[in-house]
Amino acid sequence: MPLNLTVNGQKLVVDAAPETPLLWVIREHLGLTGTKFSCGMAQCGACTLHVDGDAVRSCVFPASAAEGKSITTIEGLSRDGTHPVQVAWKELDVPQCGYCQSGMIMTVVAFLKKNPNPSDKDIDEGVTNACRCATYHRVRKAIHLTASSSARKGASS
Ligand code: FES
Ligand code: FES
Repeated sequence: MPLNLTVNGQKLVVDAAPETPLLWVIREHLGLTGTKFSCGMAQCGACTLHVDGDAVRSCVFPASAAEGKSITTIEGLSRDGTHPVQVAWKELDVPQCGYCQSGMIMTVVAFLKKNPNPSDKDIDEGVTNACRCATYHRVRKAIHLTASSSARKGASS
């Protein structure tokens, strides 16, 4: 049975078994390789993307569970890399090797939607992605920078 998926605003029909992890549909069938594979066990967050705005670890998320929902990958987060989280990431040079960073950014975008002014403790509890380059300090700073920039914009609009 083909799967009917909406990815980055595009309606697509994909010939894959329903239990195929969404990560493989995104990477192998659709060629969107910004979403990464690492642990394959919902532990590291490298494969994080959004389903109806929620961050999901796509290596363990059956593609059929995303039918009828809106899937967003790092490629669809913004047209030109100007999502406020991406802007903060660039300003603070967050990535080192970069491998974990698309999953990190997708996690942070969903996290900030639910918690627009987080404390360090909130960040530690809510952003649990692994980074082998240990960019955690800069990730935290960039989250605070995004939160304060968004608050300033909100106050001036
Ligand atoms: S690859 Fe999915 S959580 Fe690690
Ligand atoms: S930047 Fe290298 S794994 Fe996170």
